[in-house]
Amino acid sequence: MLTQQTDDGKRSSLHGNWSSRMAFILAVTGSAVGLGNIWKFPYIAGQNGGGAFVLVYLACVILIGMPVMMSEILIGRRGRRNPVRTMELLGKEEGGSGRWRWVGGLGVVAGILILSYYSVIAGWTLAYIVKSVSGVFAGASPQAVGAEFDNFVGDWRLVGLTHTVFMGLAVFVVARGVERGLEQAVRFMVPALLVLMLVLLGYSISSGYFGQGVAFMFTPDFGALTRDSILAALGQAFFTLSIGMGAVMAYGAYLPEETSITGASAAVVTADTSIAMLAGLAIFPLVFANGLTPGDGPGLVFNTLPLAFGQMPGGVFFSTVFFVLLSFAAWTSAIGLMEPAVAWIVEHYSKTRAQATVGVGLLIWFIGLGSVLSFNVLADARFLAGTIFDNVDYLTSNVMLPLGGLLIVWFAGWVMSRNSTSDELGGSGALYKLWRFSARYLAPVGILFVLLNAIGLLG
Ligand code: PHE
Repeated sequence: MLTQQTDDGKRSSLHGNWSSRMAFILAVTGSAVGLGNIWKFPYIAGQNGGGAFVLVYLACVILIGMPVMMSEILIGRRGRRNPVRTMELLGKEEGGSGRWRWVGGLGVVAGILILSYYSVIAGWTLAYIVKSVSGVFAGASPQAVGAEFDNFVGDWRLVGLTHTVFMGLAVFVVARGVERGLEQAVRFMVPALLVLMLVLLGYSISSGYFGQGVAFMFTPDFGALTRDSILAALGQAFFTLSIGMGAVMAYGAYLPEETSITGASAAVVTADTSIAMLAGLAIFPLVFANGLTPGDGPGLVFNTLPLAFGQMPGGVFFSTVFFVLLSFAAWTSAIGLMEPAVAWIVEHYSKTRAQATVGVGLLIWFIGLGSVLSFNVLADARFLAGTIFDNVDYLTSNVMLPLGGLLIVWFAGWVMSRNSTSDELGGSGALYKLWRFSARYLAPVGILFVLLNAIGLLG
């Protein structure tokens, strides 16, 4: 997928370029579509009361997520280096300061912290492949499925083991530069995941509780919207789109000149949002049909989907395929989470890709142990936002990503010259003007509003 390309007088990437526009879209889609859509969106929406939260989330995706994503890609392509170096280079070039590299640094740290717990949940999906094959879910009651989950996450050795296996797999493929296989994997995985979500949706529609699920997701009760749930909606928009931490910037560094950034961003945002909505529509009816509560937390998907699979014909097969696909989706996201750190170490310390990946992987694995223990041994140790897992999640999704996104969009809108950005976005027509207005005013004001509101500064 990565082929060397020469440039017309512009910087060229150190790592080669994507072979095609499609390869780039697939890679970014692979990074965006993951646990965030299927595991996180339903439980966060559930915890924050549904309807109004979903509406704010969608508004954040379109009004803030889209311009931030375009900014990240255009910065990445213009800099053509790892996010730290790119921000430093462009900072100086655009008459700002080299200190903009700290925005890249913030992203490197955010990626490491996110993957530390992301890998733990991805480990759950690996375990659920094995459970599906064994047939434990066939005809199981809600109580049995719930007990299966509680027993599993309650055992730190099992959770630690699957976290270790997932990190091992991720490091192995990233170190070998198997991004070559990534394109093929995503090309197959995203459509297949879509088909399985439709199967689940069909089951949900037949459950008799579809209307209640839809009502929960789309009837806004603005009274239920707290400052913190508005922040959670913004955080979820950043998390699910993989923006605010340089993953998309790192991928943009390998993007050929002629590719349309606007078109690619729109494609990714549409695919990602559709899958999250489908997941919600499949899961909430099952929640109500089985007398569960939407606000149940991180176990929601693992307590609902196996019930549906357990009831449907061919359930063992569908359930196995589903968790295989979800593990794949997590894996293609894990690559994006590691890429800024790995690319930075390779370029900055002249390490090989393999050395950098193993080093970063070990660090992430170690930090992840905190999240492993958050569901068992240290489940009762709560501070600030809750368990260690809750805190790492809150800090990254609700603080670091929005802050990173604010700085990135500010940089693209206010520090970079109109010439540079219109050059990257291809012209100065209506679409460009719309982006520029969003990057300068809409997105920064939106993010600042939500952040300041959350800490109570807006009264
Ligand atoms: N977007 C991914 C998901 O929804 C998570 C992710 C965040 C990946 C940031 C890369 C960077 O699962």
